[in-house]
Amino acid sequence: MQNFVFHNPTKILFGKNTVPSIGNETVAFGNKVLLVYGNGSIKHNGIYDQVIQSLQDVGATISEHAGVQSNPILSHVHQGIKIAKENSCEVVCAVGGGSVIDEAKAICAGVPVQHDVWKFFTGKKSVKNPLPLTTVLTLAASGSEMNSGMVVTNDATLQKFGFANKHLFPKTSILDPACTFSVPADYTAYGAIDAVAHVLEFYFTTTEPYTPVQDRLMEGLVINAIESCNRVLEDPFNYSARAALMWTATLALNGLTGAGLGKIGFPMHMIEHSLSAFYNVPHGAGLSAVIPGWMRTQVKLHPKRFAQFAERVFNKYEGTVGETAYQGVAALTAWFEEVKAPTSLTSLKVPDSDIPGIAENAMALAKVWRMRDYSEEKITEILLECR
Ligand code: NZQ
Ligand code: ZN
Repeated sequence: MQNFVFHNPTKILFGKNTVPSIGNETVAFGNKVLLVYGNGSIKHNGIYDQVIQSLQDVGATISEHAGVQSNPILSHVHQGIKIAKENSCEVVCAVGGGSVIDEAKAICAGVPVQHDVWKFFTGKKSVKNPLPLTTVLTLAASGSEMNSGMVVTNDATLQKFGFANKHLFPKTSILDPACTFSVPADYTAYGAIDAVAHVLEFYFTTTEPYTPVQDRLMEGLVINAIESCNRVLEDPFNYSARAALMWTATLALNGLTGAGLGKIGFPMHMIEHSLSAFYNVPHGAGLSAVIPGWMRTQVKLHPKRFAQFAERVFNKYEGTVGETAYQGVAALTAWFEEVKAPTSLTSLKVPDSDIPGIAENAMALAKVWRMRDYSEEKITEILLECR
């Protein structure tokens, strides 16, 4: 096991009727609040009213920045920074899914500086004393509610880049599974797929030879994501299934799974971000279109690892190690199909002629993420396998 520092400062309030706590949790950092949210789901499901009431009850002055789109864009981040500066906001409160929380993190980072916030995403500047952030999570997927990462698309250059900074962990996140009752079946599935992908990125790219603690934690998270997603798709108002899915997604990308694994890569996300940037596909749908192809290019290189995944997650024991390894890829792909997620570029209607442009775009992110084992040719080879 490699040396590691595990320090996750985010306070989590999990469970029923936790949303009314957001007021106190937010004004602990300041009374002038920037409330960030999306395109209206929280107004339909009543979360907006609860949050406003809670903030007003504790005397907060609220400025609103609504309209965050799925796969958030830089120009909208700039608008949020402007509103926050004009109203001298002291704290940001994000109410939504990963897109809302990520845009809020970028706003927190951008308010105290004069330069373009995009410089953080290209590694040209580092974050210094960002505004504090609190969140109410409404979609189980990204893990942004308990991590220091964020992903934004530069809508001028069509680059969807992500970065992390230890100052950008949310101070407090409210996780009430009932807030996700209104998430439709497709985004429920995409969220579960995103959580599975977060685990697979660590599981299949670590080079540490013996990681039993992390392996069984990760295998358990994948099993839970699949099982709880299936239960939610049967009954969207199943609280315990929504709770299991929510906590699984948070644990899948809060630093715990990667502790001790040493250097890992994020190849599936590196490629998917280009699909979301070019075609604005939901993040989880882009991942389910990329993962099977990426796995097929890797399984022959690491048959034992893939066979362990097949055995422990899907109980597959078919003949040789190589045969079992392929069974795991097939079983995961079959689950994507079962939850009606795309499993190829063709199912996303991405033409072969776009592949060179996607590879070039993804390579730019691979460079920022210092993924030296990836070249444009290698990415093209993976994309061809994803057709
Ligand atoms: O516009 P709103 O009202 O927010 O509607 C959203 C959006 O249309 C809707 N929704 C959210 N909660 C709902 C709901 N609809 C009904 N009921 C609710 N309770 O769902 C749609 C998708 O929301 P979005 O926030 O985009 O989804 P998700 O949470 O999957 O976030 C995706 C974003 O997270 C980034 C992705 O790149 C993508 O931009 N990621 C962030 C990461 C991080 N910070 O660590 C890591 C991830 O790998 C991921 O890259
Ligand atoms: Zn993701």
